[in-house]
Amino acid sequence: MTGDDPLEESESGESTTDGGDGNAAPQSELRPDGGAAGADDVALDPWGSSSVSDYRKLFEEFGIEEFDEVLEEVPNPHYLMRRGVIFGHRDYRPVAEALQNDEPAAVLSGFMPTGDPHIGHKLVFDEIIWHQQQGADAYGLIADLEANSARGMSWEEIDEHARDYLLSLLALGFDPEEGELYRQSENRELQDLAFELGADANFSEFQAIYGFDGETDVSHMQSVVTQMADILYPQLEEPKPTVIPVGPDQDPHVRLARDLAERMRFFKVTEAYASFELEDEERALVAEFYERLEPEEFDDDTLRCVHVAEALEETPLSELEVDASVLDSVLTKLEEGGMEPIRPRTRFFDRRATEEAFDALVETIDGEKRVYESHVDAFDLDRAAAEELAREIEVDNGGYGFQPPSSIYHRFMTGLTGGKMSSSIPASHISLLDDPEDGYDKVKAASTGGRETAEEHREKGGKADECPVYELYAYLLAGDDDEFAKRVYDECTSGERLCGDCKEQAAQLMREFLEEHQEKREEVEELLAETDIELESPRRR
Ligand code: TRP
Repeated sequence: MTGDDPLEESESGESTTDGGDGNAAPQSELRPDGGAAGADDVALDPWGSSSVSDYRKLFEEFGIEEFDEVLEEVPNPHYLMRRGVIFGHRDYRPVAEALQNDEPAAVLSGFMPTGDPHIGHKLVFDEIIWHQQQGADAYGLIADLEANSARGMSWEEIDEHARDYLLSLLALGFDPEEGELYRQSENRELQDLAFELGADANFSEFQAIYGFDGETDVSHMQSVVTQMADILYPQLEEPKPTVIPVGPDQDPHVRLARDLAERMRFFKVTEAYASFELEDEERALVAEFYERLEPEEFDDDTLRCVHVAEALEETPLSELEVDASVLDSVLTKLEEGGMEPIRPRTRFFDRRATEEAFDALVETIDGEKRVYESHVDAFDLDRAAAEELAREIEVDNGGYGFQPPSSIYHRFMTGLTGGKMSSSIPASHISLLDDPEDGYDKVKAASTGGRETAEEHREKGGKADECPVYELYAYLLAGDDDEFAKRVYDECTSGERLCGDCKEQAAQLMREFLEEHQEKREEVEELLAETDIELESPRRR
């Protein structure tokens, strides 16, 4: 423990506030958004160093959406959601809606048992548990195949750590009777699904997504299809909105899983205006002119392909907001369509349906329809109804009907010493198994967003947004008490709260949390023994 922090003796007013062991990161590298110090540029690499220097780039470059944008639709949002710790999502809306309407939904996340579970993993435990409490089917899995293949962990080490993750998950409130716990290596259904998904993924794709090359071993690749299967596993019995809470480093996996889910579908539903296919931009043009032109203005009250072509040709390119090449190609298609009427319709493409499924679809479509070799056009069915029908037919005919899985992303915690929080740097993180006194000491030794001197701190206020200790309050120590979190923030930034007292309070809370958590871990030993998850792998190499 260090006592050399001037702010810890309130008025002394000299030297640094950063205390610690002199390994504090330069504050200038810390980001106001709570990102990690000295982080590299944004690269989402599931097996690389997981730090993100600029969360905004994740929105711009990777298409992750801001969580705030769906927050209002979430019933009793968790404090991690309210405080922006969960900062991003992909397609979370269907999950939020399902929770709101008490419809089926699922949550699943996985843990690589490579070390002790720490307070960063607690975020994910909490996310799973919260979704379970909101009514979702909950799954927690031990990614032992991945730990063995991608990290070279022995099965003995894996067993030890797996047990620790599971105990913490249960101690924090996961209900194993309602939810399911499994390890990848012991789940036969999962392996079968992985095998099936593997038939739809190939090496070039893995190369592009994960940077795999000729040296990458095959088991590592197998662990990827296994994770794809993990992500879709909750939908094996029936399709349902499923959320995968993870750090943003896992986003490549989420994107691939969303892709594969789509590739497994029997039918693809699109909108069309005539018998031929249009690209998205072309379709938008035709849609616009379909709205704009009055059929009565044409010969037999019918708007035909040639009419749209003519109208398009009369419109200056600058008004159309597309490239000349798009215009060219849509004109060619429309001219070839000639006198064919333009009529909006919903199209079902046969992607991989069985013959029976295709026939069943044709049979079930109400109203006017036209059947082609590998698609059906329905004229009295809107897009949403068509999607629903396609899924129903698929499921009735032995398909999965997967919904694209959703994800939510939490911020990485800043390490206590300022850099990134890493399981390989003990002082940077607090393990859920740390002796409570060590937890206390680590917080006392943490770097802070305090000013050089107490005087300056009082005058300018502390930099709570750049402070690992404030993060501890916001992410963990304040629990559900928003008022408390806000008070700490306000008192800090107004200069009232000095780092010494603040750390003392945080350190005590951390000690209490660890004591309590570890007691609960002992209590749930029995619960764990009662679950059917395998705790000792028969594998030994
Ligand atoms: N790859 C994840 C990690 O590195 C672990 C994992 C395996 C996982 N399967 C998953 C996470 C499914 C979320 C969903 O920690």
